[in-house]
Formats: sequence, structure tokens, C-alpha cells
Amino acid sequence: PRRVTTSALAKMARDNQPITMLTAYDFPTAKLMDQAGVDCLLVGDSLAMVVQGHETTLPVTLDQMIYHAEMVGRAAERALVVVDLPFPEGQLSVEQTLRAGARILKETRCQAVKLEGGFEQAERIRALATAGIPVMAHVGLRPQNVHQDGGYKVQRNTERLILDARAAADAGAFAVLIECVPAETARQITKAVSVPTIGIGAGPHVSGQVLVTNDLIGLTAGYLPRFVKQYGNIAEAITQSVTAYCDEVRSGQYPSDEHSFK
Ligand code: KIV
Ligand code: NA
Repeated sequence: PRRVTTSALAKMARDNQPITMLTAYDFPTAKLMDQAGVDCLLVGDSLAMVVQGHETTLPVTLDQMIYHAEMVGRAAERALVVVDLPFPEGQLSVEQTLRAGARILKETRCQAVKLEGGFEQAERIRALATAGIPVMAHVGLRPQNVHQDGGYKVQRNTERLILDARAAADAGAFAVLIECVPAETARQITKAVSVPTIGIGAGPHVSGQVLVTNDLIGLTAGYLPRFVKQYGNIAEAITQSVTAYCDEVRSGQYPSDEHSFK
């Protein structure tokens, strides 16, 4: 199948065809999602939380992001794969950001990077885009800013958010991800920029939606943000399978003749 491109996403947005995006962290899951037809896969730094078990996205390193991105990039044949620039690669010098972005494109088979921030990131966005590294900006709630913000909060400064999104688009971002803002604000941001907007906790008036896959398939233990809709219960399926296996081994039911060599 032909690869989804950044211009294909722009066309989808113009045609009011909603864009689908989900996170992916490993080969088999990414393969299933690609085959299911999701337009974009995001190797999110959320992997620090949902895969590594950390409390924030800050601990994951660039090397670890590249390790996961390589598996996802190898699995995805159709989806455009975007990789997060982890903290603090997108906050250091422009040159360091550029080096990190270049490593991602060079060492994985992924096609784009994502950078948290808008207005204050314009120079880095421009440098990446100029170097041939497609960049998605990420405005609204910025998880890498959690300590500065004192928690994860809905972002309500509409004027500032529009400024961020516009600056990012003007600097060459091919899309803007909007996290945790009121639906009406996301609608206004989407109207204000010429590039696709991808929302998470941002309501329906955007060009596309993204969620953390582990949340929607029911693999995340504990707290789920209000904007998550759980479509499956993989945790239950895993628990059932593992419990049944342990029961059968303990009772001598497994392995039977059927699963033994003669
Ligand atoms: O890392 C992540 O999963 C994200 C979300 C906004 C989807 O950036
Ligand atoms: Na992220």
C-alpha cells in the first residue's frame, strides 16, 4: 500500500476527511494498527509512562525512542510514522534539536518528528523543516512541561493557543497537535491555521484525532483521562489467558498429547 504523506494529510483536512492517529511502541502492535488502516502512527514519549512505567514522559531517552521507533517504522507500510523528540532534545540548542531529528530519520524508518511547543519553538521548527525533517508541533497541554505547569491541566488561553499554532504553521510545521483544550478553542485554532490539526482531549472540531493506544485498548492500569474512550479490554484478555494457562499447568491439563511430540 502507498505511504500516507504529509500532503495526503493536508488534502484530507481540506476535504473534511477526519485523520486517524494512534500511538505505537512495538512491531506486532504497529503491524496490526497499520493493517487496520490508521493513517498516522505516533511513537510517543508517552512510552515512558505506558511502556516503561514512569510517572511522567521525562525519563525516556533519545536512544530509547529510536529503539522503539525503529520497530514501529519497520512494521508500518502505509501509515505515516511520527516520532516524539523526547525531553530535552527539543529544548536544547537548535543544532542539538536538528541532530536529534536527523538521527530519528536516519536510524529508523519513520517519516516525521513531533516537537512540543508553538511560538517559542518557531526557530527549531523552521530548522527541522528546512533540513527536510517534517515536524508536527504540539500545543496546549505539553506533558514535558509538567513540572513547570504543576500538573496536567486543561489549557484555556485561546489567544495564546492560536498564537502558538499559527507560529508553528508559519515556521513550517506540517500539522499541529492540540492537547487538552476546550472544544470551542480547538475549533478556533483549526480555523486559524492552514495545516491539519490533530486533537487529543480537544473535541470534534479538528482535522483528526489521536489517543494513546494502551488507553483505548484497555491496557493501561489505573487512571484514564476523561477524554479517553476505552474500545477494548486487552488487560482482561491477558489476565484470562495467563490464569487459564497457570490453572491448566497446575492441574496437568496442559500440555496434553495434542501439544506433545510423539
Ligand atoms: O506521547 C504521546 O503519546 C503524545 C500524545 C499527545 C498522543 O504526545
Ligand atoms: Na508525547
